[in-house]
Amino acid sequence: MADRIVLNSISYHGHGAIENIVPELTARGCTKAFVCSDPDLLKFGVTGKVTALLDAANFPYSVYSEIKPNPTIQNVQDGVAAFQAAGTDCIVAIGGGSAMDTAKAIGIIINNPEFADVRSLEGVAPTKKHAVFTIAVPTTAGTAAEVTINYVITDVEKKRKFVCVDTNDIPEVAVVDPDMMASMPKGLTAATGMDALTHAIEGYITKGHCVISDMFHLEAIRLISRSLRGAVQNTPEGREGMALGQYIAGMGFSNVGLGIVHSMAHGLSALYDTPHGVACAILLPVGLEYNKEVAGERYRAIGEAMGVMDIDKMNDAQAADATIAAVKQLSADVGIPTNLHGILKEEDIEFLAQSAYADACRPGNPRDTSVEEIVELYRSQL
Ligand SMILES: NC(=O)c1ccc[n+]([C@@H]2O[C@H](COP(=O)([O-])OP(=O)(O)OC[C@H]3O[C@@H](n4cnc5c(N)ncnc54)[C@H](O)[C@@H]3O)[C@@H](O)[C@H]2O)c1
Ligand SMILES: [Fe+2]
Repeated sequence: MADRIVLNSISYHGHGAIENIVPELTARGCTKAFVCSDPDLLKFGVTGKVTALLDAANFPYSVYSEIKPNPTIQNVQDGVAAFQAAGTDCIVAIGGGSAMDTAKAIGIIINNPEFADVRSLEGVAPTKKHAVFTIAVPTTAGTAAEVTINYVITDVEKKRKFVCVDTNDIPEVAVVDPDMMASMPKGLTAATGMDALTHAIEGYITKGHCVISDMFHLEAIRLISRSLRGAVQNTPEGREGMALGQYIAGMGFSNVGLGIVHSMAHGLSALYDTPHGVACAILLPVGLEYNKEVAGERYRAIGEAMGVMDIDKMNDAQAADATIAAVKQLSADVGIPTNLHGILKEEDIEFLAQSAYADACRPGNPRDTSVEEIVELYRSQL
């Protein structure tokens, strides 16, 4: 089967990238922007860096920020109503994965109102029209939602998160400016950065990987493992490397899929509101151990990209173990907990395993799995 690669039409990278937002909006004849962000980003003045540019250019906009981390169906539906009430014709999404994913769902429903229930967008939905013209501006260096064809919404009633995959949702323009990420506290930088590493590693070993995605993922692993410790210390080089590394990971995994680390992480966020990156970071070594018997020979390249010393002198089994050790070391260095103590409850494991098995990321896992095996993987983390 032919490989399909979907990317933004235009993306801007580096300091000052946000200066391109107003020219992009005006060049496309947009008249009023729907600024989709979240309450903390408004409070910390992160959203304000972009609205100041809109103000300076007298470009009309309306702000919507009723978005919680791990955004809900309600957040999306309220956003659709707000978009319609505001008379806006384009979206500027400013935030982490939560604000950008909500913006993507809003943009899709505005142009495809038959999916207004949101739930029917799960998986690969047959939308006919591209979402409203969107410029996505990430403020975390993690999800790469600005370049992916996915968004993830929480169904509060059913206690699950669901993944929507739709080429119509990719923002036309991504503006990846490390200055928008500089205000992230250490814990958030670490968690979102480990999410990005998980994308690059799961994407590299996923069943559908191809030459083009391999190229993106190996470079992302190299950039992220070289930059994350610095980013946590808020160094400019660390922030720049992470902004780029997480985006390049998105160019890859969005096109080929992920695996059970993400499937298992989604349930933890839905049930306990565990930050997505924390869940991914704790589960990444678990997934790597589990997948070693079928994908282990690909771990050497991951280890090389991470700079594991003397990996060329190791046999395949040693190289795989050294790679997993390097992942654990990076996680420990940035302060991620080593297991799910205090998060996971024994009585929820069966439900979580069933949710993980039903998750859209699971079929991409290199090793075929089962609910029973996922139960064991969760149980190992109690
Ligand atoms: N679309 C995709 O392809 C994709 C991929 C992975 C994850 N996700 C989803 O993205 C969501 C997680 O997104 P996230 O990890 O980016 O976090 P988030 O968007 O949930 O944000 C977490 C918190 O960090 C704050 N924050 C964000 N940027 C900040 C900054 N620069 N300074 C200070 N505070 C800041 C936010 O206000 C929020 O309170 C989850 O729902 C996850 O499932 C989507
Ligand atoms: Fe993720």
